[in-house]
Amino acid sequence: MLNNKFKEEFANKAAGAFQTLFSDKYIEIGDKQVFSAQFILDNIEKPKDPTKGRFAFPVFRYGKLLGDNPPSIASKITEAINSSDNNLITVSSIAGFINIQTEFAIEASETIKNAVENETKYGSSDVGNGKKVLVEYSSPNIAKPFGVNHIRTTILGNSLRRIFLKLGYETIGINYLGDWGTQFGKMIVAYKKWADPSLVGKETVTDLLALYVRFHDEAEENKELENQAREEFKKLESGDAENRALWEKFREISINEFNRVYDIMGIEFDWVTGEAFLNDKMTHTIKAFEKANLVSESEGATIVNLHDEQLPPVLLKKADGATLYLTRDLSGYLYRANEFNFDEMLYVVAVNQSVHFQQMFKALAMLEDAQAVPEEKRMSSKGKHVEFGMIKFGDKMMKTRKGHIILLEDVINEAAKLAKEKIEEKTPDLKNIDDIALQIGLGAIFYSQMSVRRQKDVNFKWEEVLSFEGETGPYLQYTHARLISVLRKFEIKKLFTRALVIQRNPYGENSILNFSSIIDEGIDYSLLNFPEEKRIVELVADFPQAVADAARMYEPNMIANHLIELAGAFNKFYQRKDANGKTDKIISDNYELCRPRIVLVKAVQIVIKEGLYLLGIKAPEAM
Ligand code: ARG
Repeated sequence: MLNNKFKEEFANKAAGAFQTLFSDKYIEIGDKQVFSAQFILDNIEKPKDPTKGRFAFPVFRYGKLLGDNPPSIASKITEAINSSDNNLITVSSIAGFINIQTEFAIEASETIKNAVENETKYGSSDVGNGKKVLVEYSSPNIAKPFGVNHIRTTILGNSLRRIFLKLGYETIGINYLGDWGTQFGKMIVAYKKWADPSLVGKETVTDLLALYVRFHDEAEENKELENQAREEFKKLESGDAENRALWEKFREISINEFNRVYDIMGIEFDWVTGEAFLNDKMTHTIKAFEKANLVSESEGATIVNLHDEQLPPVLLKKADGATLYLTRDLSGYLYRANEFNFDEMLYVVAVNQSVHFQQMFKALAMLEDAQAVPEEKRMSSKGKHVEFGMIKFGDKMMKTRKGHIILLEDVINEAAKLAKEKIEEKTPDLKNIDDIALQIGLGAIFYSQMSVRRQKDVNFKWEEVLSFEGETGPYLQYTHARLISVLRKFEIKKLFTRALVIQRNPYGENSILNFSSIIDEGIDYSLLNFPEEKRIVELVADFPQAVADAARMYEPNMIANHLIELAGAFNKFYQRKDANGKTDKIISDNYELCRPRIVLVKAVQIVIKEGLYLLGIKAPEAM
């Protein structure tokens, strides 16, 4: 069982009730999607008033279809479900809503078993089976430094890739390098003029960066340099051997550097490609638009008028024959559509490129219209710009090295350094302190990028993102380490009678080894009756929904928020005081009570770890 059993039961029963109660209408309407259990399942909501039920289902959309009013539909379906044999849910109706109640002890046992038995698979589903999603992210520009401006796309895209994989989609993570364009003309000029002959063949990205910065500094005084750069780029485009060799050199140096940083960050791709890959595909693209009668001439340039007041025309080819960023993107789309036949393609790119993507999708739709592509074969509507806001640096965060750019790696190093200082205060004798500090530093950076809805700007402040309290990555990581430490203290043999093979137990000699083997051993879940415990069970139960919602909205922030709530509920429980004002220890001599609690702790640990994984963040076991 990977989905929520209670919702599934509701969906199946409601689907059946619709069919029986409205059989005449049902036949008339035909096999409408809205009556399927899957549709009902996908449209279950949180009730406005949480005391009324765990879940709610609105029936308004059925009013017109069934020629009945929503409150009446809701009460008919409610009655039918309540009179069927079931032991998992009860329902009630209010206005046009059906509220779904669960029996807590049953929900607790189902939820905890589901999490503990499935471990890293908890929250997985097969909704994506047979579907293919392309996620394009990171896409830094070669011969420019990997600056912090590429951080958000890298982190969001990496997370979306993991989320879609978890939901069963075939997922292709694409890094679309900016490896073509006028910046290469600049680099070539700078290299030819100023490269240090003693370094030739051994240049690093830092040397390239120095050349890049020098070009920009000198070009401010000397406008002639820009012309030279255009000339060199033209030569490169027409295949000049020397420039081509330089381009390859720059590309290789940059890619090696990017890979080193991706490794540190744990970022993965399935396909690393780039703009240059499309150089031989653009003639074909331009021809397709010409054949569809969509192009016109404007001052010698080839353009596509989008007939849209909001959108400027697409410039396919400049008067001098040069193609553009958008021409390459259009070619890339057509190429990928043909090659992968995807169900969806996501471009995780900053919001300031939104006109670019609107132009692209519109042009593609016009092309398909002109080609009279039948509905089921159309690809143009399958692209989606997953846009995000800017990163702002609220306080001066660090001196920008080498002029104008904050290097991503400097940010990572700074984060790890600050994290290490914190750990040294708290846990001076921690093993692998440098490893853990890096994990925490990265956790802080990663989380900060998903701490708000993606369209919002992120305000990055060191003291905030690195805090072990509040809504931060380190807070979640710290909670995870705390969960592990509770599990380590727990001695399994005392609590569970079934003999267990204790072999290299990750949590220490006598502590818990295999939760799935004890999960059935007479645990009384009704003993979990504090509000904190109930809240934890609900949040564990709702994790799969948070993952599905994150995919639906392309919004890792929904998982981030869910984890914060869960960590908050757990920490409240952990620090609970009993009637005498003493901390109410999770592990105590009250074995009866201890059993359901410890498996609850395990379930929380699984969810936090897996949730962090989906965000791209490591979950250390101690810190
Ligand atoms: N390289 C571009 C930049 O850094 C981002 C590329 C975004 N993806 C795309 N298909 N246009 O601005």
